[in-house]
Amino acid sequence: MADLWVNSAERIGADLHLELSGPGGRRAALIRALREAVRGGRLAPGTRLPPYRSLAADLGVARNTVADAYAELVAEGWLTARQGSGTRVAERALPPRPAGNPPVRTPPRARGPLHDLRQGTPDVSGFPRADWLASYRRALQQAPSEAFGPGDPAGRAELREALAEYLARARGVRCEPDRIVVCSGFGHALRLLFEGRVLRGPLAVEAYGLPFHRELLGGAGVRTVPLPLDEDGARVDRLTRERGVLLTPAHQFPTGGPLHAGRRAAVIDWARARDAVVVEDDYDGEFRYDRRPVGAVQGLDPERVILVGSVSKSLSPAVRLGWMVLPERYMADVLAAKGEREAWAGVLDQLCLADFVASGSYDRHVRRMRQRYRGRRDRLVAALARRAPHIEVTGVAAGLHAVLRLPPGTEAATVERARRLGVALDGLAAFRHPQHPESAAPAPDGLVVGYATPPEHAYAAALDALCGVFPDP
Ligand SMILES: Cc1ncc(COP(=O)(O)O)c(C=O)c1O
Repeated sequence: MADLWVNSAERIGADLHLELSGPGGRRAALIRALREAVRGGRLAPGTRLPPYRSLAADLGVARNTVADAYAELVAEGWLTARQGSGTRVAERALPPRPAGNPPVRTPPRARGPLHDLRQGTPDVSGFPRADWLASYRRALQQAPSEAFGPGDPAGRAELREALAEYLARARGVRCEPDRIVVCSGFGHALRLLFEGRVLRGPLAVEAYGLPFHRELLGGAGVRTVPLPLDEDGARVDRLTRERGVLLTPAHQFPTGGPLHAGRRAAVIDWARARDAVVVEDDYDGEFRYDRRPVGAVQGLDPERVILVGSVSKSLSPAVRLGWMVLPERYMADVLAAKGEREAWAGVLDQLCLADFVASGSYDRHVRRMRQRYRGRRDRLVAALARRAPHIEVTGVAAGLHAVLRLPPGTEAATVERARRLGVALDGLAAFRHPQHPESAAPAPDGLVVGYATPPEHAYAAALDALCGVFPDP
């Protein structure tokens, strides 16, 4: 019995497990195995089969055995043989299915909304494919052999060095590369910190935030305490006995303002006084339009703040790379939570991002996208001023989304009308902390509009549709 993985892409282009067993000798066994591989879909129509000689060598059978098996299957219609293009699986190799046995279909992909204005995604059509590919190529060419072994849970040194330089320059972060731990994004950082028991609750969070993050914290057994918001950001004066606070200081998510300078200082004072920690979610800090970006709070006291960032807004949420900049006292626990080897952030992707940042491609991409988003923001503001002047636009100095204030009591109906018109977006209520009582602060009505989400060609139509969803003044 010969049992073999034929897996050389050069020869066959697909992983193929051929098991030569059963009665009737090798030729019959090979015919059965190939027929089975075609019938089962492991050899797709059009796939080129290995030349007689190499398959014979792999299976340890005579060349003629393979030639005879191929000829038999050509005669049966499973394979086709053409001069110059070798032997391939026939395009209609699959026998008709018996009646009464309906074909298994993959479910049709759900049709998305006509106009996607949900927050949370950059314009992914702007992904810098050519520069990313160039970085990947260089990273692969230059990677030492040890890079292909198990990864260091702290992350590749090349990436940590590139990030330390970039974060200091662009975000005012104070750190050395050995205080950076690479992760797969903000959600992963929260898991490491709280599921990994590096930090414990109760944790103060902004009264409006991503439900996914609250759920993740709840799942880790962490009680979250909502902090009210006003026009200067989170009311950090309300912090009391919590062990930490999670903030989005550069651009409150989702309401949109920066944390006031006085409050940035006050939250550090609170953390020092109570031996607490600030977790800074710097999710879209690069995208500020009218002034210089607001620097990270981490720069005020690197021993009191854990800064977390990722490429999900700046590049793509598909890349799954992020970073934590940690006070020294958490380093060992975070690394222990990550495990002995890197199990989350692909090392080759890390090397690619390191090159992408160090070569200046990241800066160039952010600048290009900042211009694009600023243009979109301006078009949004202009369209609303023209067609819905009674709607106030807020939170647009930075970020990839805006909040459109609605008359009290109209949010749910407006979101529903938008849905019927094919416009996907969320109301502010979707982000409110469930334990934030109306008595603490009445819930404002508003729409959260992700103006970065549609590709460039679809934006004008999305704006046009959006202008049709508002209640009359
Ligand atoms: C408030 C907020 N924090 C963090 C992130 C980034 O999450 P992740 O890095 O897990 O993709 C996002 C979305 O991109 C976000 O909206």
